Amino acid sequence: MDKFIIKGGTPLKGTIPISGSKNAALPVMAAALLADSPTTIHAVPRLRDIYTFNNVIRITGARVDFHEDKNKLVIDPKHVSHLEAPYDLVRKMRASFYMLGALLGRFGHAKVSLPGGCAWGPRPVDLHLKGLKAFGADINLDEGYVLADAPDGELDGGTFELDPSSVGATVNLLLATVRSSNTSVIKNAAKEPDVVQLCRILTKMGAQIEGIGTRTLTIHGVDKLKGIEVQNSPDRIETGTFMIAGAMHPESNITLTQTDPEDLGKFLDIFKEVGVELEVNDDTIRVVAPDKLQPVSVKTQVYPGFPTDLQAQWSTMMTQAEGKSKVTDTIYFDRFSYVPELVRLGADMEVKKNTVHIKGKTPLKGASLMSTDLRASVSLVLASMVAKGQSEVLRVYHLDRGYENLENKLTRVGAQIKRVDNDQ
Ligand code: EPZ
Repeated sequence: MDKFIIKGGTPLKGTIPISGSKNAALPVMAAALLADSPTTIHAVPRLRDIYTFNNVIRITGARVDFHEDKNKLVIDPKHVSHLEAPYDLVRKMRASFYMLGALLGRFGHAKVSLPGGCAWGPRPVDLHLKGLKAFGADINLDEGYVLADAPDGELDGGTFELDPSSVGATVNLLLATVRSSNTSVIKNAAKEPDVVQLCRILTKMGAQIEGIGTRTLTIHGVDKLKGIEVQNSPDRIETGTFMIAGAMHPESNITLTQTDPEDLGKFLDIFKEVGVELEVNDDTIRVVAPDKLQPVSVKTQVYPGFPTDLQAQWSTMMTQAEGKSKVTDTIYFDRFSYVPELVRLGADMEVKKNTVHIKGKTPLKGASLMSTDLRASVSLVLASMVAKGQSEVLRVYHLDRGYENLENKLTRVGAQIKRVDNDQ
């Protein structure tokens, strides 16, 4: 099991290329199963979650070729025959639950394991199941599996309102309804860039979807979809993570390339308030750190609001701001497992309900830190890079789920970080 050894105190200078988005690629990979011919996806990141989903898709009989050197993935659904996603894989990666919508939408039947628990509290899928039922599916639970059937081989359609809005449920309901002869309406749909990309790609495959990018999606089912070649979008959460990394040391000055500032929603304006110098172009973002970081409190919201996947990184940055701030997560109430770890470095933070209260600026000093989940673990890396002395971040397999080549990207801009095998 690997860990990172990090020597803190070095400013970050130079250029970092952004990888393709994990959360945008996963729905497109599931959508490939809806077509009658192969789909090619470019800019697919080499991440543990992608490898896991490749195996979930292979189990159905589909052919999956991942040309890793080119970040190119080809999915051929011609030989799908096994309409199941097993617990052993779904428990490793919740988004495998997208197989429910894809298999039900294409074949009228699916047996998919319920995702199970998550490191930071309940993440139910009740809206996925309620929505499918509202569109006419028979849904049964058996030994931890969802058995879903479309009575006449296809869903009847209808209208379903999500409350709260959910990325995953919107994706599953889209996948289940695009291939039918009926009309389905999703109200209070998610409009995260990952969902918008999925709608645009399904449309290129031949689907008919109205209201893309709005809270109301109307799907006019079609008979067939064709496989296509597409470019996956850049990772907006990776972009936000590196922007924050670039603001935390007063002498840092980095440029992120191959990114899409449009996908950052309100984050971009909120980020400016901490006092950074920001240069934004079509596909690059330059961040020049301020001498003094301003304390800026945030509240997470659905897109285009402040993303919950950046709240840990933001809280970490706020430990280095001159003054008090607070970070409230309205999407996940218990996503603060990084706080006790940062306190080990000397941070002054306290969690009350779904808000962390932060006093800055506090000097941090290196220590051993334990990763617990993807975004929490990257915040430990950000903190270690500004802490005095050496830190070790354990269980970096959590990071490998969502950050491609993290230590090499950080090393190229001057960070002193290396991956070592913790078992030696
Ligand atoms: C997606 O998860 C992302 N995952 C998450 O990123 C992200 O944190 C989340 O959206 C919110 O932005 C992927 O894209 C693979 P939701 P998802 O359904 O789809 C409640 C990362 O770090 N809810 O939009 O699972 C739910 O509990 C990951 O890359 C229900 O109550 O999130 C939450 O409070 C972590 N019932 C809210 O909705 C349901 O059936 C939003 O969840 C579904 C959701």
